[in-house]
Amino acid sequence: MTILSHCYCVSGFCIIIYLSLLIHTLASPTLHFCHHDQRDALLEFIDEFPVDESTNTWITSWNKSSDCCHWKGVTCDDGKYGQVISLELNETSLNSSLKTSSSLFRLQYLRHLNLSSCNLQGEISSSLGNLSRLTSLDLSYNKLFGAFPVSLAKLTKLSYLSLKSNNFTSTLPSDMSRFHSLEYFDVSENSFTGSFPKSLFSIPSLRSVDLRDNQFTGPVEFVNTSSSSSKLRFLGLSRNRFDGPIPESVSKFLNLRQLSISQNNITGSIPRSISKLVNLTDLHLSNNKLNGEVPGFVWRMTTMTLSHNRFSSFENSSQETLIQILDLSYNSLQGPFPHWICKLKGLRYLDLSNNLFNGSIHPCLSNSTVSLTELSLRNNSFSGVLPDIFLDATKLRSLDVSHNQLEGKFPESLINCNALQLVNVESNRIKDVFPYRLGSLPSLNVLLLRSNEFYGPLYHRRHASSGFQSLRVIDVSHNDFTGTLPPHYFSSWRVMTTLTEGNDYMVNFIKYYSSDLIIYRSMEMVNKGVETRFERIQKDFRAIDFSGNRIHGKIPESLRYLKGLRLLNLSGNAFTSDIPRFLANLTNLEALDLSRNKLSGQIPRDFGELSFLSYMNFSHNLLHGPVPRGTQIQRQECSSFLDNPGVYGLEEICQQTYTLDPTIQQVEEEHSETEERIFSWLAAGIAYGPGVFCGLVIGRIFLSHNHATV
Ligand SMILES: *[C@@H]1O[C@H](CO)[C@@H](O)[C@H](O)[C@H]1NC(C)=O
Ligand SMILES: *[C@@H]1O[C@H](CO)[C@@H](O)[C@H](O)[C@H]1NC(C)=O
Ligand SMILES: *[C@@H]1O[C@H](CO)[C@@H](O)[C@H](O)[C@H]1NC(C)=O
Ligand SMILES: *[C@@H]1O[C@H](CO)[C@@H](O)[C@H](O)[C@H]1NC(C)=O
Ligand SMILES: *[C@@H]1O[C@H](CO)[C@@H](O)[C@H](O)[C@H]1NC(C)=O
Ligand SMILES: *[C@@H]1O[C@H](CO)[C@@H](O)[C@H](O)[C@H]1NC(C)=O
Ligand SMILES: *[C@@H]1O[C@H](CO)[C@@H](O)[C@H](O)[C@H]1NC(C)=O
Ligand SMILES: *[C@@H]1O[C@H](CO)[C@@H](O)[C@H](O)[C@H]1NC(C)=O
Ligand SMILES: *[C@@H]1O[C@H](CO)[C@@H](O)[C@H](O)[C@H]1NC(C)=O
Ligand SMILES: *[C@@H]1O[C@H](CO)[C@@H](O)[C@H](O)[C@H]1NC(C)=O
Ligand SMILES: *[C@@H]1O[C@H](CO)[C@@H](O)[C@H](O)[C@H]1NC(C)=O
Ligand SMILES: *[C@@H]1O[C@H](CO)[C@@H](O)[C@H](O)[C@H]1NC(C)=O
Repeated sequence: MTILSHCYCVSGFCIIIYLSLLIHTLASPTLHFCHHDQRDALLEFIDEFPVDESTNTWITSWNKSSDCCHWKGVTCDDGKYGQVISLELNETSLNSSLKTSSSLFRLQYLRHLNLSSCNLQGEISSSLGNLSRLTSLDLSYNKLFGAFPVSLAKLTKLSYLSLKSNNFTSTLPSDMSRFHSLEYFDVSENSFTGSFPKSLFSIPSLRSVDLRDNQFTGPVEFVNTSSSSSKLRFLGLSRNRFDGPIPESVSKFLNLRQLSISQNNITGSIPRSISKLVNLTDLHLSNNKLNGEVPGFVWRMTTMTLSHNRFSSFENSSQETLIQILDLSYNSLQGPFPHWICKLKGLRYLDLSNNLFNGSIHPCLSNSTVSLTELSLRNNSFSGVLPDIFLDATKLRSLDVSHNQLEGKFPESLINCNALQLVNVESNRIKDVFPYRLGSLPSLNVLLLRSNEFYGPLYHRRHASSGFQSLRVIDVSHNDFTGTLPPHYFSSWRVMTTLTEGNDYMVNFIKYYSSDLIIYRSMEMVNKGVETRFERIQKDFRAIDFSGNRIHGKIPESLRYLKGLRLLNLSGNAFTSDIPRFLANLTNLEALDLSRNKLSGQIPRDFGELSFLSYMNFSHNLLHGPVPRGTQIQRQECSSFLDNPGVYGLEEICQQTYTLDPTIQQVEEEHSETEERIFSWLAAGIAYGPGVFCGLVIGRIFLSHNHATV
């Protein structure tokens, strides 16, 4: 104190300096001076790996001349001994295995070890058991394989263990209860086998168990989980091979918030006892063999995915409903539109697709549309008019009512849905004029009106300027559209004129249906290196299908600007012009069908030079002149040129046909198969499933569930 006051007399500046020196001296135990044994162990440890200093610049801080307690990733205890208690080398490329004799195991005081995403390889050394003070061990996202490290059971204090995303193939130890301090246990994304680890659930401290994406088999059983004080909040069992029923005893986990058992072989019905889990908000049971009634109490959850099961009915619920995400698709639910849906005020995502619902869609659904972002009623037997309920649906991104028996007018209120990205009403009996006004929706990517009773012109002068600026896929085929398309018809379709990639939403949309996209498969036959090619297509896919209508007149000049177009189908109309040469300038075009029109003139020679175009069809027109020469042209089927009065030079292309001499009839049949193969993709292929969109909302669990079902 005297020193202090003395110093005070000198200057304020002096006090500050002096005080800090004083604190430094008095508080020396809190300054971690690294113990030299610990320092040497760390240095020897890091020397075991080929750590590249240029990409791991932090490593320069690891030098002998500085206190190891200040090295990047290292933390010491706050005692005076300078012991290393935490090591975080996560996301450092160690690129090698952890040796049994590794100096790491000399860091006896470690409590926290994070080696996540370190590209570690090989098996886990049993020496890990030497780190007896470890409470948290994260070895996730490596390539560390082989058996579950049994030596970890020695770590009595271990509360956090993650082996997520490695390549382990063993069973879990039969007595997991030895990990008696465990709170967080994650072995997801490995290849663990064996039966359900019952013994794990006798650990009272357990809060989160993730066994997803493994090869576990047999029934799910909870034995000795008597503790009604169970702390378990998360249980992930999805994507294994569990079978048998959901045990009633699951209700012992009173604190459970999320339960995921999707993609197993679970049978039976949803146990009544789940109603005791008052805090359960997320229930994922998709892709199992569950049946019976969906119990009423489930409506109080916020997320529920029950798709791909055998549920046949649901219990009426008078309870307050909080549900935001509801997926009941691919079940055997039947009867009229469920009215209680209208009570779901916060509903964001509703998928009732692929069930046996019938009758009309009740207009009370308008009560729920305010919050809806995705709505799919696809593939049921709904009939009557699609009610005009979208006035307040300003968040709606996708609407799919395809494959029903809807009739009457197209709902005008959709024009208010400024967020709309996808509209699919295909395969109904909707009888209306083309919904011109949708052209002003700023984000509309996909418009599918295929196979309805739409009529009249596709063009309306009054709506010509507000034109589909974001459209990437349009299918209005197999309707009764008539009239002509003016030369400037496509000029406002901005996104079609660019090569910009789609947003994630669009890319997911294409990707998740790629196995259904028949155009992909037929292109695969033609092209090598299609993998990279298709990856590109997924990102900038664009298609126009106007086929099977009664459109006449010239092919519009403005088509020449649609540089991004991959597929153009104008077949089965009454176009009368020449085949415009500019089509050969659409260098991204992969498939072109102009068959069954009244096109005259010659096939432009430029087509011979197109290298991408793997499918073209000019048959059943009034064309004449020589078939142009070129690699892709020579690869076409003979039938692609047939039934044109004056086309010649087909000898090479039709060689087989002539030598085998089949009847033209046979050729025709083959032809229509090919055509069907390529162009039915919009009908069957864009089987839009909400998982695609939900991916952006709900995340991985949901996405992968849908992905695997596709
Ligand atoms: C470690 O592996 C990664 C990925 O395989 C590689 O990019 C990196 O160059 C490797 N680093 C060293 C130091 O070998
Ligand atoms: C040791 O690390 C310190 C800071 O962490 C740095 O300033 C110094 O240059 C390093 N010394 C060597 C020899 O790399
Ligand atoms: C490593 O993990 C710790 C938590 O253990 C986290 O705070 C840190 O940001 C991570 N470092 C990197 C590079 O991701
Ligand atoms: C682990 O501990 C055992 C016994 O305590 C000892 O013999 C062994 O050398 C230790 N291993 C390492 C790598 O330090
Ligand atoms: C370990 O590091 C990873 C990646 O940086 C991080 O996500 C994880 O939360 C860390 N684990 C722990 C237990 O802190
Ligand atoms: C995991 O193991 C399988 C078979 O043992 C192997 O084919 C695969 O490449 C491994 N994966 C990784 C990421 O090491
Ligand atoms: C259940 O607890 C009883 C008595 O505590 C014990 O004998 C039995 O082995 C336990 N079963 C399992 C599967 O842990
Ligand atoms: C479900 O069981 C069937 C046979 O009963 C089997 O073929 C299938 O692989 C099983 N699926 C899963 C996810 O275990
Ligand atoms: C449900 O959660 C609330 C709030 O987190 C908690 O207070 C309550 O105890 C939980 N209920 C049960 C039965 O665990
Ligand atoms: C469902 O409950 C509502 C009232 O909560 C009732 O009006 C309706 O008739 C019930 N439906 C069935 C099928 O029980
Ligand atoms: C829909 O909302 C209106 C007004 O908020 C309400 O009167 C009506 O009962 C609701 N319909 C249903 C089926 O919940
Ligand atoms: C095709 O594009 C080239 C270069 O952009 C242009 O010179 C040519 O006139 C175009 N051909 C037709 C028929 O539009």
